[in-house]
Amino acid sequence: MKGKSIIILALTGTVLFAGCGSSQPSAESPTNARLNEPGATADPKGKGKYTDVVLTHPLNDSMVHDGSNTFNVKCAPCHKLTEEKLVGPGWKGVTDRRTPEWIMNFVTNTDEMIDKDPAAQELLDKCMVRMPNQHLNDEAARSVLEFMRSNDGKK
Ligand code: HEC
Repeated sequence: MKGKSIIILALTGTVLFAGCGSSQPSAESPTNARLNEPGATADPKGKGKYTDVVLTHPLNDSMVHDGSNTFNVKCAPCHKLTEEKLVGPGWKGVTDRRTPEWIMNFVTNTDEMIDKDPAAQELLDKCMVRMPNQHLNDEAARSVLEFMRSNDGKK
């Protein structure tokens, strides 16, 4: 455990100026060429209980509203709705770069995701802050996802 933290610290040092999320030149980062561990494969659904999230069209307005409230109280201290990084990555485009299952697993199973999911580990390397578990229940997490979809212009 201790050894691993030291390795992570060493890695984060080398990406100090790489930004957190949006500012990397995309030509240099094809989605699969940036895993921490050789041989690790990125499951686009992440790690956790969500394997099949059903999205509704049109968006559910009441969930968007609830998700917006949760965002303001629990997420806005660290996340902007634009592409700009605050403590964590800006949310613009998050529903395009991640699957709904990945987002639900990340929000409800944050620690395991950061420990084991290659894409989440890569964010940790860039942001250098470990997102604390926000203790959202399933319903609140789903509402935040609906709010993210709305923020991304989904109908
Ligand atoms: C204390 C700061 C902090 C708070 C509060 C916070 N986050 Fe995060 N979040 C982060 C950081 C830092 C990351 C980057 C991953 C990492 O290193 O932990 C992140 C990453 C994410 C990601 C992945 C983004 C991407 O581009 O793939 C999602 C989704 C997310 N957070 C959702 C939430 C939700 C939902 C809330 C509110 C319920 C929230 N966060 C509250 C700091 C925070």
